[in-house]
Amino acid sequence: MHVLHVVGARPNFVKAAPVMRALAAHSGVRQTLVHTGQHYDEAMSGAFFQQLEMPTPDCNLEVGSGTHAQQTAGVMLALEPVVLERKPDLVLVYGDVNSTVAAALVCAKLCVRVGHVEAGLRSRDRTMPEEINRLLTDQLSDLLFTPSADADENLLHEGIDAAKIHLVGNVMIDTLVRLLPRAEECFPSGHPSLYVLVTLHRPSNVDDLSWLRELLLTLADLSAQLHVIFPVHPRTRQRLDGLISMSNSNSRLRLLEPLPYIPFLALQSRAALVITDSGGIQEETTFLGIPCLTVRENTERPITITQGTNQLVGRDLQRLRAAASEVLSRDLRSGKEKEKGKEKVTSHVPPLWDGHAAERIAQIIVRDRGHGGS
Ligand code: UD1
Repeated sequence: MHVLHVVGARPNFVKAAPVMRALAAHSGVRQTLVHTGQHYDEAMSGAFFQQLEMPTPDCNLEVGSGTHAQQTAGVMLALEPVVLERKPDLVLVYGDVNSTVAAALVCAKLCVRVGHVEAGLRSRDRTMPEEINRLLTDQLSDLLFTPSADADENLLHEGIDAAKIHLVGNVMIDTLVRLLPRAEECFPSGHPSLYVLVTLHRPSNVDDLSWLRELLLTLADLSAQLHVIFPVHPRTRQRLDGLISMSNSNSRLRLLEPLPYIPFLALQSRAALVITDSGGIQEETTFLGIPCLTVRENTERPITITQGTNQLVGRDLQRLRAAASEVLSRDLRSGKEKEKGKEKVTSHVPPLWDGHAAERIAQIIVRDRGHGGS
């Protein structure tokens, strides 16, 4: 059986790595890895491949950056001949980025089976490009691998055949479980022991410069209380350049280049608080039991709120300030209780976020072999 994986952007690498590893454990499965080139910087791509111990891609489509239409069309045009030539039995796509929907569309038109890893998540906000990608990719897929029960409900509600849906758990957590021991061993040097970790890259936060300026001022205020560490995504860096020079960041608000997987996980696992707009980080903080404030009006990962450590603060800086103060003062209190051995557990890791989601996916794929030929 021949499985072709399509990855393009940073979170895809974290999701595909455990699936490739799990499939490699099954005899008779041949794998091909295609990188669309949506993310191309060393810090956004190469360093991830190395730390996740992923094989060098068999093929790089080198689509790079562009408008949504340019990027999506670029992947489609470049991927079609690869699929025609390599003739996979199944193409696996990951998450919700432009590369994901483009690959699913190419394969569905060529009548090649598509498996979507991280299916069924919905923010119900169609102004997010990722929501469009999620809706379309799920409609086009033959195997839908979901991380949580709410995702199954979303798919059933959209009329997707229950037989295609497989609740397998969270593959991003597989990678975290595997690499957390390594991250704990090598905490990056030169950082304070008590800090808030920040990531922001969504268009809704970084494309509106006056909002981004207000957000930065709020982080600068917070840094009077506690160090703030902010590894800056390239999209955000371009916008920040007009507002603040990276080198001029004050010593308690540290703007860094994007970090590879392991040092970022190390920083996440010891943070007093994480402020983010990323989807994956909402999940990782829930698993790690680290308080997370999400600067968005909605989330496609509601389980991180109902069961985890996540709180939506929306586009409301008063709420962000109040929630940060609340978490930090609670943290100091619980720190004292921890010392006395009375720490309260307030978050629960969702079912099947256990480090074995990719193995379940591999078993289902191998069982499905009959549909895909060979
Ligand atoms: C993409 C995904 C988003 C995901 C994020 C993770 C879509 C619609 N969005 O957003 O869901 O959370 O990746 O990082 O697919 N750039 C570089 N170097 C790179 C990559 C990008 O400089 O290696 C710059 C380019 O100027 C580019 C901008 O960052 O225009 C944005 O990159 P793009 O791939 O369009 O989207 P992301 O914001 O990274």
